[in-house]
Amino acid sequence: MMPADRNSDSNAAAEALMALMTGEAPASEVKEDGGEKSEVVKEEKSEQLLATAEKTQGDAAASEKKQVDAASQSKTETKGIKRRINEHSSSPSASSTITAPGKPAKTQDEPPAEPKSPPRSPPRKLKRPSAAARRPPPSQQREQHQQQRGNTGSRNEQERRGEQTGFSRSRTYEAAAAQEIQRRSVDSVVRQHYNARPDMGVSARQSSPIIKLKSFNNFIKSVIIKRFARRDDVVLDMGCGKGGDLLKWDIAGIRGYVGIDIADVSVRQAEDRFRKMRRKRFWAEFMAGDAFSMPLTAHIPRDMYQAVFPVDVVTMQFCMHYAFETEAKARQMLENVSRSLRRGGKFIGTIPSSDAIVEHIQKLPPGEKEWGNSVYRVRFFNDPPRDGMFRPPFGHRYSFFLEDAVEDVPEYVVPFEVFRAMAEDYKLELVYRKGFHEVFEDETSEHPELFDIAKRMDVVKSDGTFGIEGDQREAAGFYLAFAFEKLAG
Ligand SMILES: C[S@@+](CC[C@H](N)C(=O)[O-])C[C@H]1O[C@@H](n2cnc3c(N)ncnc32)[C@H](O)[C@@H]1O
Repeated sequence: MMPADRNSDSNAAAEALMALMTGEAPASEVKEDGGEKSEVVKEEKSEQLLATAEKTQGDAAASEKKQVDAASQSKTETKGIKRRINEHSSSPSASSTITAPGKPAKTQDEPPAEPKSPPRSPPRKLKRPSAAARRPPPSQQREQHQQQRGNTGSRNEQERRGEQTGFSRSRTYEAAAAQEIQRRSVDSVVRQHYNARPDMGVSARQSSPIIKLKSFNNFIKSVIIKRFARRDDVVLDMGCGKGGDLLKWDIAGIRGYVGIDIADVSVRQAEDRFRKMRRKRFWAEFMAGDAFSMPLTAHIPRDMYQAVFPVDVVTMQFCMHYAFETEAKARQMLENVSRSLRRGGKFIGTIPSSDAIVEHIQKLPPGEKEWGNSVYRVRFFNDPPRDGMFRPPFGHRYSFFLEDAVEDVPEYVVPFEVFRAMAEDYKLELVYRKGFHEVFEDETSEHPELFDIAKRMDVVKSDGTFGIEGDQREAAGFYLAFAFEKLAG
């Protein structure tokens, strides 16, 4: 159920929510210093960061090194995290360089501090999930588990059999080495792409040709956050990007946030965005690192890990599909999620829907590998399976182009039933799975107050009814939202 009571606090909160759902600062914040000046400062910063990103382009090795440097710099910067978190918890007025619920750190261009937020409870002691929760089950159990899934001819079952093929596949050293080289190059492309994208200001965003799609997607993310997060939660954002969801989390009333992303420039932009937020009521830490191929403990300093983890929510918005390049990567990603979550905690996210992908594939003329419209385009590298069964279920690479957002970045199909079955191995039970249009229909009919926000966000069609239409509607239908709950174990 949607915790609607949390959002009926005040009209001001609803007002802020509308602005915040767009992923941008509320209008009042932008206007404080004349609007234009804020925008200019923001654009200048973006340009500096973009220049840095461009320098790294075309040099994957330098980029790898840069990431390692950024990660170690991040470690140094966050060394005092435990102390700072404790300071915040015990004294809301304690000063801090980055994290400051109740009293944001002052910088030259920052406005005066906000009123104090309510006192927070002290950080919880580290409660590590049991060893069983951290490991995939023994292969014997896994085989038994798969046999129990039966032998029907349905696509879902066949997807699962594909998973079995993937499990039992023996890999030669050469194949593994070749795969590792490919992984690094794909990761470099992804990192360079997102690093190089400017952090758009409010005005630039408004003139985007896909503004309706962006608003719709932000609306869906906000609805999912509101549905599954609770006040005072601590959140881990894997693939946090430029921090586009920070304001949504503030509205949700969280206590703390840890953001990690492979794109180091994006991470700095996220940090910058957090520093400039006026009304933040939570602490936040950011770090650059690969959250899918390596254990998170490789990036998160030990004292921070001990002070903050396990968290209440792990969020992965529009990024988990990068992990389905290989089984090893998908499993490491799930292990990172499961290890990070407390029992009963939620794992939420948005990904391309394998059902939507299959529907399109089945409509393709023979020999055709791509489809799309004026705002998005999907192009498979190899002939996509016409029967809709991805065997083995990893590495089904396609190139995704989204007008004004993503330019031909390699992504991977996430066969949903394989994902769901694998997640079970990590004590994650599916509690929610809906396509974006279904989320919109169901949540707004269950919670009509959401129409107010949809209206203010201009999630409105040309005939005045709510929703999204035309090519942007088709592009939104490419995605689904999910939520898992961490079980005891
Ligand atoms: C489409 S963006 C989404 C950003 C953010 N979650 C949002 O919704 O605005 C995808 C993000 O996934 C990140 N990403 C891709 N592979 C990653 C990895 N292995 N580890 C961490 N982040 C990764 C990219 O750098 C990029 O910032």
